[in-house]
Amino acid sequence: MLQPVRLAPDGRGLHLLDQRVLPAREVWLELTDLESIARAIEDLAVRGAPAIGCTVALGLAAISHAFPADPVGFAAAFTHACERLARTRPTAVNLFHALAAMRAAPQHQGGLRAAAESYVDVELDACLRLAEHGAPLLPAGTILTHCNTGALATAGWGTALGVIRSAHASGKSIRVLADETRPVLQGARLTAWELQRDGIPVEVIADNMAGALMARGEIQAAIVGADRITRRGDVANKIGTYTVAVLCHHHNVPFYVAAPWSTIDLKLVSGAEIPIESRHLDEVHHHGGARMTPPGVGARNPAFDVTPTELVTAIVTERGVLHRGTYTDLAAL
Ligand code: MRU
Repeated sequence: MLQPVRLAPDGRGLHLLDQRVLPAREVWLELTDLESIARAIEDLAVRGAPAIGCTVALGLAAISHAFPADPVGFAAAFTHACERLARTRPTAVNLFHALAAMRAAPQHQGGLRAAAESYVDVELDACLRLAEHGAPLLPAGTILTHCNTGALATAGWGTALGVIRSAHASGKSIRVLADETRPVLQGARLTAWELQRDGIPVEVIADNMAGALMARGEIQAAIVGADRITRRGDVANKIGTYTVAVLCHHHNVPFYVAAPWSTIDLKLVSGAEIPIESRHLDEVHHHGGARMTPPGVGARNPAFDVTPTELVTAIVTERGVLHRGTYTDLAAL
């Protein structure tokens, strides 16, 4: 199974499959210092909410080899590293859950390594279990997905793409339509790459094509991941997810969200409270190295949107499937 984030065998470095250059090249980075790990998250060398959490946990364990040996110096270096990593990306709550798990670990190198490895094991297990819960929901036919929610975005297997993988593995006849996911094309580059490797039929569509295909009855269900889910079940995910949910609602197509429990933020009630990352405008202005917009024209680049719980047919987690109308507050679960 592809695991995009791994500790080096000696525990002193982090191995990351560089997602910026896929599918053209498969390049593994070896990162050994705080700044290069923080920049890898900011620059999307590693991305996807669960994978960001794993990178933070394993990254802290890796760089702690270089922390001062005395407890006061170790604590100061650890705090500084946590603060830097917390500033990398604001929306995926998994990052903050990973930091909390590492803060709760015994504060020495061995303790951090054990905590990080256990964090990743729990995340991988969550993906495998939520995929089992979700697979029976998917009808045979064509499934739309948005962004990349596969092994690359997690500790392995994937969330929404994990559900698709498990449904395919169970013998269901499934074809995937992958939204290209502008501006940085996680769907066209990463989802298509992963599914092709696994022999799961996939076609890429531009983000503005899903509505026409739904109107023609060509999409049987949509399934996406999440970066943060609030207590009432509002879902922050890659920009464009809300549009897919509205289209599904209009065309009576089921709209599923798959995410591990580490993506749920019980501190927030409403999606309006979720911090939404704004990314560099060059991601919108440029494509394939060329500027597409006239110089001087403005742009906007919110990286995520929020889908209200009313549009979500069900949320699939490792604890089971939460159907719309069966919960009002996830904290009660
Ligand atoms: O900006 P990204 O690529 O980190 O955004 C990723 C997504 O929005 C994913 O859908 C989400 O993190 C779920 S990944 C299993």
